[in-house]
Amino acid sequence: MSTSHGTTLSAAPIVKRLHGKVAIITGGASGIGESTARLFVRYGAKVVIADIQDDLGQSVREDVDPTGQTISYIHCDVTQEADLQNLIDSTIEKHGKIDIMYNNAGIPGAFGRSIVDTSFEEFKKVIDVNLLGSFLGAKHAARVMIPAKKGCILFTSSVASVIAGETPNAYTTSKHAIVGLTKNLCVELGQYGIRVNCISPFALATPLLTDAVNMEASTLEAAIYESAVLKGTFITTEDIAEAAVYLSSDESKYVNGLNLVVDGGYTTTNPTFSMSVKASLKQNL
Ligand SMILES: NC(=O)c1ccc[n+]([C@@H]2O[C@H](COP(=O)([O-])OP(=O)(O)OC[C@H]3O[C@@H](n4cnc5c(N)ncnc54)[C@H](O)[C@@H]3O)[C@@H](O)[C@H]2O)c1
Repeated sequence: MSTSHGTTLSAAPIVKRLHGKVAIITGGASGIGESTARLFVRYGAKVVIADIQDDLGQSVREDVDPTGQTISYIHCDVTQEADLQNLIDSTIEKHGKIDIMYNNAGIPGAFGRSIVDTSFEEFKKVIDVNLLGSFLGAKHAARVMIPAKKGCILFTSSVASVIAGETPNAYTTSKHAIVGLTKNLCVELGQYGIRVNCISPFALATPLLTDAVNMEASTLEAAIYESAVLKGTFITTEDIAEAAVYLSSDESKYVNGLNLVVDGGYTTTNPTFSMSVKASLKQNL
């Protein structure tokens, strides 16, 4: 089985690590959300994908399970509270519970733009989708998870929650704030047995990034590999999906408030000094 971003899922039988669980994934029509939806179903979960790209979302649903028994699609703009309310209520109506709420939808904002040239509307749009959308998803999930006294809330943050200066101001701000929200909610909701964690991926050549930097996926993938600390392997959306499976499964039953950075070690170093030294050595040759 192949995802739209070229990840190949192995055909080997797997343990149903999410058997019996019901999961919602926002931004599930593409990229990380799509890969996670596919993997969650493979591990035995029932999945509701929520997105604003209706045709794409429906085609993922159709491709994964045309019967619609294990996966369904619902239109949901995460900046609209009524859409989130409807997403949660209709999932409860369909499946009777929600075990996993993965707030993953996001947008990048314009790369390479100075704060001076960033409009109020542009900054707000990124914060609205990435942060307000995550807050609203968590809020409405908590509404049904608190009485159930269990649940797992996940967010997609980014390496931009750890390092700064490589992504637009609003994006970095939103991704730092998601870590803050994760930590606050892990304390607030821990008393109800609800775990709250986030995942911070390294760069991936999904539509979000190829569009933002205006590059072909293959060119961008080469640049990502070149800049990566970990060589001999390549980051895929399925690596993030596997992290989401771990944080959603009972294997992580005591993990709460974690920002799981999936970056091959990228944020542990700053290579600019050695790059600069190498560049000047080459110049002097
Ligand atoms: N691609 C990367 O390099 C990278 C790195 C770190 C973190 N992330 C984060 O991963 C998450 C997923 O992004 P991706 O890389 O898979 O990109 P993607 O563009 O493939 O997927 C993002 C999805 O979010 C949806 N979306 C956008 N606005 C929405 C809204 N208002 N309501 C509902 N859905 C909406 C899009 O339609 C799309 O399907 C984002 O939060 C992003 O910030 C991406």
